[in-house]
Amino acid sequence: MLFHNNIYFNFAFSFNEYTKMELKVLKQEIDCIISSEYSNEDTLQKICDYLERTVSYYDWVGFYFKNGTKNELKLAQYTGEETEHTIIPFGKGICGQVAMSNENFVVQDVSKQENYISCGWKVKSEIVIPIFVKEKNIGQIDIDSHTANIFTEKDELLLEYICKKIALILN
Ligand code: SME
Repeated sequence: MLFHNNIYFNFAFSFNEYTKMELKVLKQEIDCIISSEYSNEDTLQKICDYLERTVSYYDWVGFYFKNGTKNELKLAQYTGEETEHTIIPFGKGICGQVAMSNENFVVQDVSKQENYISCGWKVKSEIVIPIFVKEKNIGQIDIDSHTANIFTEKDELLLEYICKKIALILN
């Protein structure tokens, strides 16, 4: 059942080719979480939980943000296995590179990346999308998958949408 205060519902997307219709539903559910007036921390946590629960190949979902004035990222909310990589210097790993490039980074096979920080042997692919507030890269959403070659343009579209919505509440 959709669009209730309680946003738990009955389906999950099992394929990377989720349809335009399903993409629309995912966006609507995210809108619903964001407009529910939780604290920013709770909103980000609920988005992590929702995405991890709903998109079957999203196995770890988290947010990193610039750590004050330091040139490093600090892990904020996440869903999935605990990681020791709670601080990532700019330039290091996929996340650290996105902090500097300001561009989406889709890695279809992490074993082929030299500048990569492993969060466990199960992870095969990763997508990182930056979050901009007033044109400044303030952080990112990071998603790991246990399946290689799984991310498509639809994931980028969905996650860019989410990052733009989040930017509005972090503004
Ligand atoms: N793999 C990331 C590190 C963060 S974890 O995926 C949670 C990277 O290379 O930056």
